[in-house]
Amino acid sequence: MHDLQSFLVQYMSDYPEDVVRVTEALPRDYQVTALAMATEQMAEPPVIVCDAVEAAGMPVVTNLFASRVRIARILGTTVEALHDHWAARSKHLIPPVEVSEGVCQEVCRLGDDADATQLPFMVHFEQDAGRYLTSGVVAARDPDTGAVNLSFARMQLKGPRRFGISVHSRGHLWDYQRRAEARGRPLDVAVVVGMHPIYMIAAASRMPMGVDEQEVAGALLGHPLEVVRGVTVDVPVPAAAEIVLEGRIEPNVREPEGPFGEYTGYATARSTNNVFTLTAITHRRQPWFLDVCPGHSRDHLLLGRIHKEAEVLRKLREVLPNVKAIHYPVSGTHYHCYISIAKQRPGDARHCALLALGLDAYIKLVVVVDDDVDVHNEAEVMWALATRVQPAEDVFIVHGVTCNVLDPSSYDGVSSKMGIDATRPAGWDAQRTSLPREVVLRAHDLLRSHRNRLQ
Ligand SMILES: Cc1cc2nc3c(=O)[nH]c(=O)nc-3n(C[C@H](O)[C@H](O)[C@H](O)COP(=O)(O)O)c2cc1C
Repeated sequence: MHDLQSFLVQYMSDYPEDVVRVTEALPRDYQVTALAMATEQMAEPPVIVCDAVEAAGMPVVTNLFASRVRIARILGTTVEALHDHWAARSKHLIPPVEVSEGVCQEVCRLGDDADATQLPFMVHFEQDAGRYLTSGVVAARDPDTGAVNLSFARMQLKGPRRFGISVHSRGHLWDYQRRAEARGRPLDVAVVVGMHPIYMIAAASRMPMGVDEQEVAGALLGHPLEVVRGVTVDVPVPAAAEIVLEGRIEPNVREPEGPFGEYTGYATARSTNNVFTLTAITHRRQPWFLDVCPGHSRDHLLLGRIHKEAEVLRKLREVLPNVKAIHYPVSGTHYHCYISIAKQRPGDARHCALLALGLDAYIKLVVVVDDDVDVHNEAEVMWALATRVQPAEDVFIVHGVTCNVLDPSSYDGVSSKMGIDATRPAGWDAQRTSLPREVVLRAHDLLRSHRNRLQ
């Protein structure tokens, strides 16, 4: 079965060095976030499993997506091949299959018996308005076509059967809700809490309207996702999910939601202020609880990254086949993008920067470098900025462009955007220093053997 628990048990056995299991009793609020945030400076932050979070009654997992190496392992590939892997797999979407029963409905709580305050939602940051669900995948049907969409939305616990929900990224869920609301109807949704990480990665992707992200999950799994129908809503949920919250987003109801510590590193009350009312909680007999560490954390930022980088790269290459690599660095939240190119014409770098700005409204700064610069090494990109850029000629700014509303420096969802051509201009005659390859290899060997002797 492709589920969260089996995945983690297998992963702990295959990569024990990449898992921290905390058996000590932990307070419910802040501590799980603090554990995840304390790993931020590590080269490869581990997944964290907390066995004894106060009043949780189940293991609490965080930081699952905080490492590119782990994401590559989850997808069955390597870090270097991640973008190609995504591009190849997503060409062959695999529809889900409906099955008659699933472990996600071993326990069904309906009506007054469904009490969300019993679940281990926690306060993450000191500025948060309350307890939040951060890992919920919202499954919903297009009110016109019935096509299923998956997306993430932060949910603030407000009572046993009431949550605030924000769909500020204005993706397909936002569009579905607005169309349902225009007819005075609620939007039925099922919120999946804890599932195999491939399902989560697929849910974080932004496919064209009408493409069912469950089919992306199937493509990445290599076989159809098994789904069951919700018990109170006509929405499919993975049969192997840990916990499912069924309910509806109410039409024409808005209530303050937030502030909440977002991926920008700031707490924000910028929200669509929607309201979700609960009709059922279903779960496995012994579920595990998955938290995605919010705030400026790799867990949150990397979850949707691979798809975004792969898609922007694919689209750039349709126009400029000489684009080599792309990287959204964690330091830039979702707003900075580094691209390398084997420049063929003097205007290629600016052309590439303009395309990237047009393809992804989140990007505020694009830096285009030559292909001798590793875009995954931020120090190298900064070195290219320092040594190949003449600001008066190589920087351009475009005013008044749509952006992500959570950028605290933006107003009304509009921002100016910047492109920097950090490639060598024509006639460049400065030579990079280098060393003979065999000498470099020898140096690494020598250092390795001396380090071993010291240990
Ligand atoms: C961990 C995580 C949390 C997110 N939280 C929110 C949120 O609270 N509200 C929102 O509108 N988008 C949020 N997003 C972004 C959307 O879920 C994401 O862009 C999604 O792919 C949109 O898909 P759609 O266009 O198919 O609906 C979040 C993404 C991730 C990875």
